[in-house]
Amino acid sequence: MKVRFFIIVLLFTCFYSPIINPCSIVAFIGNVLCKVRLLTKELPRLEYRGYDSAGFACHDVVTNDIVVLKKPGKLDVLKELALKSPCDGYAAIGHTRWATHGGATEVNAHPHVSEDGKLVLVHNGVIENHYQIKQQLIKQGVQFRSETDTEVMTQLLAKCIEKAGDLKKGVLACVKQLKGACSCVALHKDFPDMLIVVRQRSPLCIGLAKDGMHVASDFLAFADKTDTVFFMPESSIAFVKAESINAFDYDGNALPIELKQVHLQPSAYEKLDHDHFMLKEIYEQRVAIERTVAYYNSLGDDLWDLLGLTKEQVENLKSMNLFGCGTSWHAARIGQFFFESIADLPTAVHLASEFRYMKFFAPKNSLFVAISQSGETADTLELIRYFKEQDAHVITLTNSPMSSMVRETDGHLLLKAGPEIAVASTKAFSTQLTGLYWLAHRIALQKGLIDELEMRQAEHDLCYAAQVLEKTIEQYKIDIISDAAYYAQFQRIMYLGRHVSYPFALEGALKLKEISYIFAQGYPAGELKHGSIALIDEHTPIVLFSHQDPIIYQKLISNAQEVKARKGHLVSFVFEGQDELIALSDKVYIIPRVAPLLEPLAMTGVMQFFAYQIALVLGRDIDKPRNLAKAVTVE
Ligand code: F6R
Repeated sequence: MKVRFFIIVLLFTCFYSPIINPCSIVAFIGNVLCKVRLLTKELPRLEYRGYDSAGFACHDVVTNDIVVLKKPGKLDVLKELALKSPCDGYAAIGHTRWATHGGATEVNAHPHVSEDGKLVLVHNGVIENHYQIKQQLIKQGVQFRSETDTEVMTQLLAKCIEKAGDLKKGVLACVKQLKGACSCVALHKDFPDMLIVVRQRSPLCIGLAKDGMHVASDFLAFADKTDTVFFMPESSIAFVKAESINAFDYDGNALPIELKQVHLQPSAYEKLDHDHFMLKEIYEQRVAIERTVAYYNSLGDDLWDLLGLTKEQVENLKSMNLFGCGTSWHAARIGQFFFESIADLPTAVHLASEFRYMKFFAPKNSLFVAISQSGETADTLELIRYFKEQDAHVITLTNSPMSSMVRETDGHLLLKAGPEIAVASTKAFSTQLTGLYWLAHRIALQKGLIDELEMRQAEHDLCYAAQVLEKTIEQYKIDIISDAAYYAQFQRIMYLGRHVSYPFALEGALKLKEISYIFAQGYPAGELKHGSIALIDEHTPIVLFSHQDPIIYQKLISNAQEVKARKGHLVSFVFEGQDELIALSDKVYIIPRVAPLLEPLAMTGVMQFFAYQIALVLGRDIDKPRNLAKAVTVE
């Protein structure tokens, strides 16, 4: 292919992790008809991002017009319709939606079409000032069909292009009026050889392949076609033709097309022989943990540059602040024990979605760590901005090297989990625990609290816990599969733990409820007697996560007895030699002993596999549970 644009080739090889926002965009312009590929290969790879409705549009080669097809529901519904339709084109756009403004209906599905029928657009993000713009457009006589913010952008863009009489000027006039996340790709009747692309907040990248240009929210979509990618910079627009990209900033200045080489094995984004991505990702954890440890070990003193810290700053650290949402918050809660026990640092944990309503007392010499698989979660991003306004030093522990969090923080430490496709977080959680445990030791080493030998021992302990995580799944696989139908009949299940096993119980309960829809509650075991014990009867199984510490273990035995005295069915995750708890339990999973504090990591595999099998018995859509999206970019 002849490439006619200015190229700065920046070679870089990374283990790519997806950048994730609800909703996905794919688009193509090139020298082959692309409907089948977009609908059967590229959109399915990104459907985990949002799956309330799906849509497709192309410059149809038969009618010489833009054809739009869209349907509420999963992508398969659209696929059936679109593959029967004779339409096809050399330029097309596709979308899957996670509803924000307006329900999951056909009229609200993307693509949206401008009133004059010329512009057809798919969007990823939330336009914050859509209401004001809509009112202005209504005053100008524009009639709206849907309840979406995306239609507002579509109508505005069409008007701006018409008014400017010039494509570039029109697009720039439009984007300057929009606030929020408004990344989009559009087809325009008057420019059939071109895709109009805007990147604002939500990520978009363009792959240069032999057959043409592939545009997507995530490189995963076209990873089998090319590894040469232009990641559009923040606040940029591009006009993409089959053989050229012209990109500009919002002042209209031409941007260099910096190409990156991104290598991703097909095994990273295919299910292979697993029934679900979640199962594949559960099984990938040992390798992901080992890869993460090996990467950290290779960093040497470069670590501090990555974190934006000097050695003196690390030595003077007085406290830690960890924050995130959902599973990442659970990892933070467990991480608190690491930093306090290993690095002697008082550690506060904040739930990002709640913190902004609380008073903040900015501590001096504190390190703030935003924990996030996607690096795009809106609540966590907002808290990063809030802490940064207070001059805090904020870093992110994330799986997504190209994410907003990496861009907006003072430093980052990457997880090497690889793409996590299933909506329920599995290997991101275990690598987050790995990252936090390792960092606590590395800071302790820098502060002179531990020596090199202890540091290496910590790395060894992490890899050993990863082996236990994997081996115990194999050991209990048959048992869990055969017991799953029994547990699937219950309406509610309680998860209990103490010390590190309490936040782990929160994670266990979240895993079960999000994929099985069984009500599950994580609870501190010691709090049971203060009220929740009223719920215990033969209809409420209790999952208890034990602890190796003899004192905590004794207390957990008392809690187990309280449960048994009330006819509760007890499922215990115990450590080798904990015979008293084994004797009390109706079902046990015996876990080999690991380093203190790595108990949650060792129990993670069986905990996740247990939830997975119950959801499987119930016939749930495990990789794409109802109402969810992979990352939540709305507050
Ligand atoms: C649960 C899950 C969510 C995420 C949460 C934060 O399995 O995946 O609870 O952990 O939405 O997402 P990230 O880590 O991307 O910030």
